Amino acid sequence: MQEVQELLIEEMQDLLHAEHQLVKALPKMAKAAHDPKLQQAFEKHLEETQGHVHRLEQAFELLGTKPKSKVCKGMQGLVEEGQEKITEGKQKEQSIADLGLAGAAQKVEHYEISGYGTARTLAEKIGQSKVAKLLSETLSEEEKTDKLLTQLCAPILDEASQQNPDEKEEAATSHAHKAARGKGA
Ligand SMILES: [Fe+2]
Ligand SMILES: [Fe+2]
Repeated sequence: MQEVQELLIEEMQDLLHAEHQLVKALPKMAKAAHDPKLQQAFEKHLEETQGHVHRLEQAFELLGTKPKSKVCKGMQGLVEEGQEKITEGKQKEQSIADLGLAGAAQKVEHYEISGYGTARTLAEKIGQSKVAKLLSETLSEEEKTDKLLTQLCAPILDEASQQNPDEKEEAATSHAHKAARGKGA
């Protein structure tokens, strides 16, 4: 049982570091988003994320230990990829840039869903029901965010897929014109 509790604490230390990174990354994601609803979703999740840090701190207290974080390499990689999407997005259509951002954010949510799911199971197993409840509350906010992002992406994806054929057609037409002019000359 002692070992399970230690593993739970390690898992929570990883999550605390992950959440701290997200408190810094989410404002950048919000700023980079073009779609107002997507922007709002990032801003709302930033507030929730601050609450996730607070819940983890409470959970550490319940386990009789000080909140400590351990470098979360997984989240470092995901945040880096998010940053890449922000940079690359500047050269892209707004809808494509937004889809890239939302995709990066969903990878983050999936990481958190997995981490909180594991931690909750461990807490339940050792009878730490208050800790399990706190972890569960955060888990459900991560799941809701993931679903919300999927919903918000549907119209953006429609827009992006409608845009492309026209642009391709336009590009092809002007290319054909240029080629025709080339031949004539
Ligand atoms: Fe979180
Ligand atoms: Fe999250």
